[in-house]
Amino acid sequence: RHPGWPVRLGPLDVRAGTVELRGPRLFDGARWSRLRIRDRAYLEQWEPTAVEGWDERNALMSWPAQWSALRSMARRGTTLPFMITVNGEVAGQITVGNIVRGSLRSAWIGYWVAADRAGGGVATAAVALLTDHAFRHAGLHRLEATVRPENAPSLRVLAKSGYREEGLFKRYLDVAGQWRDHLCFAITAEEVSDGLVRRLVARGEARLP
Ligand code: ACO
Repeated sequence: RHPGWPVRLGPLDVRAGTVELRGPRLFDGARWSRLRIRDRAYLEQWEPTAVEGWDERNALMSWPAQWSALRSMARRGTTLPFMITVNGEVAGQITVGNIVRGSLRSAWIGYWVAADRAGGGVATAAVALLTDHAFRHAGLHRLEATVRPENAPSLRVLAKSGYREEGLFKRYLDVAGQWRDHLCFAITAEEVSDGLVRRLVARGEARLP
């Protein structure tokens, strides 16, 4: 075990409903696959290129291997993987990955939210919950988010969350079949000692139930 895992985060009420984060479970496969196949057009343009093709990578059959890989990385302390639930139902994922300790204590954060739950503050709530957790309980000092400049909703999530733009990474990630430029955003622990969740609540964008 390492600090910060396993854990449940939330609940936090936003426009779309009650948001909670919990670890992935083997029986999440059916709903995960249904959402991912249904929302392909909306997700694929922003996600790392799937070598095997979208339908194979997101088939029900491929979940047990992904679940077990996430779980073992979480146990080793290199990843903090969460399912996002809205009113108790899986509605996306948020992950802190590539955790490097030592004198860096940094990682990336990434997320997706089902199309029919989007626009209701879910991703912003999830980013707030996981950022606070990573700094307070998982021993991290810096989180980094890389986003395609064309991804307006995700840029908005990071701006609302107080992530700072640090630069442009040229041809950074293989996304939707090509090497895509990404904007790099980051935040460090001392910038949010008051907590992102507290800020959301203070601005009236979220409520602690
Ligand atoms: N242009 C500008 N702003 C937009 C647009 C648009 N076309 N569409 C939505 N927005 C705004 C919304 O109005 C909202 O802002 P507001 O609260 O000020 O009105 C904001 O973008 C979205 O905020 P949330 O509701 O908290 O986010 P949501 O739950 O909708 O999830 C997400 C956002 C995760 C980016 C979702 O759209 C998604 O899953 N997209 C596909 C996958 C993806 O892009 N993942 C992110 C990759 S980058 C990364 O992980 C660091």
